Order: sequence, then C-alpha cells, then structure tokens
Amino acid sequence: MWPDLIKKAKEGGIDAIETYVFWNAHEPVRRQYDFSGNNDLIRFIKTIQSEGLYAVLRIGPYVCAEWNFGGFPMWLKNLPGVELRTANTVFMNEMQNFTSLVVDMVKEEKLFASQGGPIILAQIENEYGNVISSYGAIGKAYLDWCANMAESLDVGVPWIMCQQNDAPEPMINTCNGWYCDSFTPNNPNSPKMWTENWTGWFKNWGGKDPLRTAEDLAFAVARFFQFGGTFQNYYMYHGGTNFGRTAGGPYITTSYDYDAPINEFGNLNQPKWGHLKELHHALKSMEKTLTHGNITHVDMGNGVTATTYATDETTGCFFGNANTTTDATVAFLGREFNVPAWSVSILPDCRLEAYNTAKVNAQTSVMVKKKNAAESEPESLNWKWRPENTDETVVLGKGHLSLNQLMDQKMINDVSDYLWYMTSVNIEDDDPIWSRDLSIRVNGTGHILHAFVNSKYVGSQWAGYGVFNYTFEKKVKLKPGKNQITLLSATVGFQNYGPYFDTIASGVPGPVEIVGKKGDETIVKDLSRHKWTYKVGLHGEEKKLYRLDSRHASKWQADNLPVHRKFTWYKTTFKAPLGTDPVVVDLMGLGKGHAWVNGHSIGRYWPSYLAENDGCSLEPCDYRGTYDNNKCVSNCGQPTQRWYHVPRSFMTDAENTLVLFEEFGGNPSLVSFQTIAPGTVCGNAYENKTMELSCEGRPISAIRFANFGDSNGTCGALVTGSCQGRNDAISIVQNACVGKESCSIEASEEVFGSTNCDGVARKLVVEAVC
Ligand code: GAL
Repeated sequence: MWPDLIKKAKEGGIDAIETYVFWNAHEPVRRQYDFSGNNDLIRFIKTIQSEGLYAVLRIGPYVCAEWNFGGFPMWLKNLPGVELRTANTVFMNEMQNFTSLVVDMVKEEKLFASQGGPIILAQIENEYGNVISSYGAIGKAYLDWCANMAESLDVGVPWIMCQQNDAPEPMINTCNGWYCDSFTPNNPNSPKMWTENWTGWFKNWGGKDPLRTAEDLAFAVARFFQFGGTFQNYYMYHGGTNFGRTAGGPYITTSYDYDAPINEFGNLNQPKWGHLKELHHALKSMEKTLTHGNITHVDMGNGVTATTYATDETTGCFFGNANTTTDATVAFLGREFNVPAWSVSILPDCRLEAYNTAKVNAQTSVMVKKKNAAESEPESLNWKWRPENTDETVVLGKGHLSLNQLMDQKMINDVSDYLWYMTSVNIEDDDPIWSRDLSIRVNGTGHILHAFVNSKYVGSQWAGYGVFNYTFEKKVKLKPGKNQITLLSATVGFQNYGPYFDTIASGVPGPVEIVGKKGDETIVKDLSRHKWTYKVGLHGEEKKLYRLDSRHASKWQADNLPVHRKFTWYKTTFKAPLGTDPVVVDLMGLGKGHAWVNGHSIGRYWPSYLAENDGCSLEPCDYRGTYDNNKCVSNCGQPTQRWYHVPRSFMTDAENTLVLFEEFGGNPSLVSFQTIAPGTVCGNAYENKTMELSCEGRPISAIRFANFGDSNGTCGALVTGSCQGRNDAISIVQNACVGKESCSIEASEEVFGSTNCDGVARKLVVEAVC
C-alpha cells in the first residue's frame, strides 16, 4: 500500500511523511532484528524519497501510538534490574543500542538530509514531558541523557522532543494536540513546530467512532500558520490498521482509522482530504511571504484577529475569528471581509480571499460496501471447523512451568494473548467450608478472564478501556477431594501510555479464592500461593492452524458446524473480490477472537462488543468551538468494529484462506467479503470556484441532483432552496461528468444562468453516483 498512500498524500499537498519506529516490531527477540517485509523501514523511507517528499523519523523508541506496550519489546521489561524510561543503565543501554542501530542503518543508506537524503528531522523519546514529574529528579537525568545520546549520534539534522517544554539544547521541543496556535518553543530562536495535529482520535473496544470535522481541522492548521507556525504534521494523515497483536491499550481496536484524511483502507476521506488540499495550496502560494515576512497582529476584539505577513515586495493576510457563534466583519485597507465564526480566511495578497476554513469546496464521498462479486463465489462461505484442544489445560491442568504464585502475564514475553493458569484445591467433606454455598472469586487486571472448574466452563469477565481491574465471582459445584481450577487470561493489547505504564499488572494478579457462604458467615480459601502451573498460548497457535502450510490441515471437519461454541477454530476459502477497491471482511455474528488471511494476521476482532449508546446526535456536527474526542461521535450502540481490512497484498488471484479463532462463541455463517469504495459523491463549490468531482478511479455513472443557488441538506438527501439558476442544471452536469472518472465545472452564472436572489451566497451543489 505504501506507494499509493504516499502518492495520495503528495497529491493532497503533503510534503513530508512522519513515521514512528516500532522497537517491538524490529527487535521482537533481544538482538534478533526484523526489518523485512512490512518492517522494512529503509524501503519505506526510500519510497517517500522516490516521491520527492521529505521524511520525519520519530525513533522514540518509546512511541505511545496506541501501539502494544508503547513500542517496547516485552523482553526489555523482563531484563533483570531494568526500569523503563528512567536513568537506569540496563534500560539506557538497550535504548541506545536500538536507537544507534536505526540511525546507522539510515546513515548507511544516506537517508538523512545532511547526506542528501529525505529525513529532515529526527525524534528522541515521546512526550516525556507529560510524565517526567512522576519520575522525580532521576527523570530529569534521563531526559538529559536522551538529549546527549541523540546528539552523539551525529545525524546532521535537528532532533526534536515533543511535549517537552524543558527540552535540553539543542533538542527542539514541539507541540502535540488538537490546536497548537498558542504554543511557543522554549528557545525563542527555535521554529514553532507541531508534530501531532490530531485529525480525529483513536477508537477503543466499546467506544464510539470519533469524528473531527474538516472545517475545525483546517481552522486549527490555518490558525497555527497565522500565529507563526512553521511545521505542522497530521497525526494521523493515514492511520491504517493495527494488524496482528500490535494494538495497544488495553482495548484499542484493530482499526486505527483516526478519521484521518486517508481512511483505514486507503480511500480518500472526503471532504477532509480535499479541504486540506486547498488549504495547503493557499498556504504554499504565499510561501515566500510566510517564510520571509514580518508579522503584525491586530486584535480586533471578540476573538477576531487580523495578521499581516510582509516582505519588501509582498504581503499576505490571515483574518481569524475564534468566536464560536458570531460571524465577524473585518475592515481592512478599505474593504470589508466576512469571516464566519470559528474560521480563518487566507488572503495571499491581502485583497482577495483565497480560502476560508469554514467554506468547504471539496466533494463529500459516501462510502459503500459491496458484497464479493467474484465469479463463481457461492452465496455463503463453506466453513470447516475444529475445537481448540483444551484437554491438557482444562481437563488435566498440565503446563510448561510451575510456581507457587500467580504470575504477571508480562513475564511470558508477550508471545501470545493467552496464558493458562492452573491449580487444584483439595476440599474434604469435613472441611468447614464444605457445607456452604461455594463460589470462585478471581481478582483480574482488566484483560479477559475465562474460568473453568473441574473441566466445566463457569464464566468469563473483562473490564474495558481505562478500567484496570475487576473481581470475578461465580457459584461453583465442587466435589469432595481434588478439584481442578483452570483460568485462561487473554490480553487485549498492553498499556501504552502514562507514568510507569509498564508496571501496570496484567493477567491474574489474584487473589484467587474459594468463598463459602452461609448466612452472614463467610469462609475464604486463598489459592494464590498454591502451586500454579502455566501454559503459554493456545494449542492451535502452537500447531499454527492459521498457516497455510500447517501440518495439521487434515483435522478440520466439515459437518456439524457449531455456532456459539467457545474456543473454536473456523476455516474457509474464498476468491478475492474482483477489481482493485479495498477489501474488508464483515465479521458480524462473531464474538471475539483473531483472524488470519493466508496466514497473515488481520488482527483481533470483536464485533459483539457494542459501542456505548449515548452521545451520538442525528444533527450534523457543529464544527464551531473547541474539539475534543467526545464531540461529534457516531456509531452509538453498533458493533465497535464490524469490518476488518484485508489488504489486497495479503490475497492471491487463486484461492484464499480465512482462519478464525473464536474465543467467545459466534456464528460464522454471516461472514462475507466486501469491497469498499465511494458510492455517492457530492460536489460543493461556492460561486466562482471550481467544483471538482471524482469517483476515485471509477466512472461517474449518473447525476442525481444539481443546483446553482442555495440548496440544503447532506449528501444523499439534498434539497433545493428558494434560489436557483437554469433549470437544466442536471443536464449541464451530466454532459460534463457522466462516464468520466473525474470532472470539474465552474460554479458561475456564465455556466448556470442568472438567479433572482440577491444577497444569498450561491453554491453549485451536485450529487453523483459512482
Ligand atoms: C500522543 C502520542 C501519540 C498518540 C496520541 C494519541 O500523546 O504522542 O503517540 O498516542 O497521543 O493518538
């Protein structure tokens, strides 16, 4: 996907691509490195270079990023004597080893700008300033060490530290956030830089879809440049997918769409992409003025500001209105300009408005999913299945390792989501607890727990995003003598943020107890210090059932396909949908688990986890006012994530295989492969602007609506207002657009005829079918 995504970014007016470097992807086992395939960092940077773009390398190597354990490899946590993100020699040696390895690789390929390459900035650490106070004086020593270590690597480009207002020289501190116009770097000679302009927000299991409007995002960018900004990076411009077990959290979804300008699947998120493209164009048209001009601000009161950038030859203006409700009129050089509430107007020559952040001229695209239309694909998929073999664990309680304590799940180096905890308890019928109502009680850390007693499943519990523990309690039937207790813990991504995030417990910390109640009296038997036996991972993971070359391919059965059966493996084959549109698999009907296509993990799935059911509005979101991730949410009460991205590069033209491990129990009969592409596109252009429409590579097939005047409504439900031009507007647009992949039309009286509506802001609005 890289070349296409980078091309789309370039076309959107982006000139640098920023990326993190994920330590746990590249050094999964200590001193065993992986820079192959999707981990080929050098190839990624070279792909950026070949498009003629710059690169920003955020090495970290702590990166946060809603990425598993913030990017730290789990073996690092398990090194004797280590303490992470602080002045600890074990940690610092490892951090230096990895950082210098990356720098050396990049240098060898001459990829730093100082060597003629594309990398113009490098980052060390990540937002340490947000947590430094929790580490006390030693945190400051670590910060200084980071700066010196980075500096010693001699990369020849500036180093940045984001959210670090005490960054030691010559590190440059940069801003992260939804708005950074009022940020000032700690050194007045440093450029004002914004490393993360959050284009939306991430999603967690059980959470709603966060959306940030194009108008507000453009407002934040324009305001940043109005107030002296020099470098602004979108986080994310393309967020993509947390494949495999890379999602952090706990409870970050597989999708990392982020409502970014290029969506998870690589389609343009319109109008956001297009509205920003126009903004970039307007800013670049005044590049000379912005980079060489002197700035003058005039505060006009009520949140209104007029800013002039002036060189000897040129002037450029920004008129900003940060008032959330009141539109403003700015009088400047004898002219009057209307600046809507919560917007910025850009006038590259201080005379004509080239751009206003609240006036969207870009098209809106409504995405549609279509069922797999591959030839000879049957209506529904043919499934085979096999049970996860739990004989050893659930029945016999056998494992690889025993300890007289409950262990933290991080100790298994994160080779699987799953860890079995097994013990037994003897209860004779003369035990005082015997005659009572018995329950098992488990203190869990917030990840998922499944409990079995005497080979019977007794129940499950999990906590959810931002909840760090819970107590599971369930009535059980015990028998006199030995009782087998088996607990399966399943992690859903390790914590990636916060002071000492790496010390947060995972798995089953205990206590694990048998509780006997009679009336008000309770007797507790604590099993926490019993002999616990452990088994890492699933039987099916060990046998690599998800791989095409698995030697255990024969044991799948075709009949008696179970539904809603826990711990079940399912397998089917399918043809890749025809064409080149991105492909998703609809996992509606399934519970929770993990999915693989041709052996490639497409991530954890959990369609049965519904998003919270409050806070969504049917009204279009008001872009005015300060944004945060609770504003403009959608998808209330729906599966948090129903569709899962299957990159075309994971599929072949021949037969493909989908394997699911279903942990909770589900019904695979509704599963289908679909393509995703713009279905309806709506053009919108203010008078004397050009309306551009595109179906992203496919022909426009019909025009449903066209009006030059004051139409209203949203794409898919447009209505004419009281003002309109020629009544054959539709056929004018049909002639210009139908059958073409893209078209452009002037929104003007010359094309659409005069209207009888003075004082109305006229727009050309079109709805087309792809
Ligand atoms: C920032 C962090 C990023 C990412 C972002 C939220 O604080 O630097 O890595 O986690 O928050 O998406």
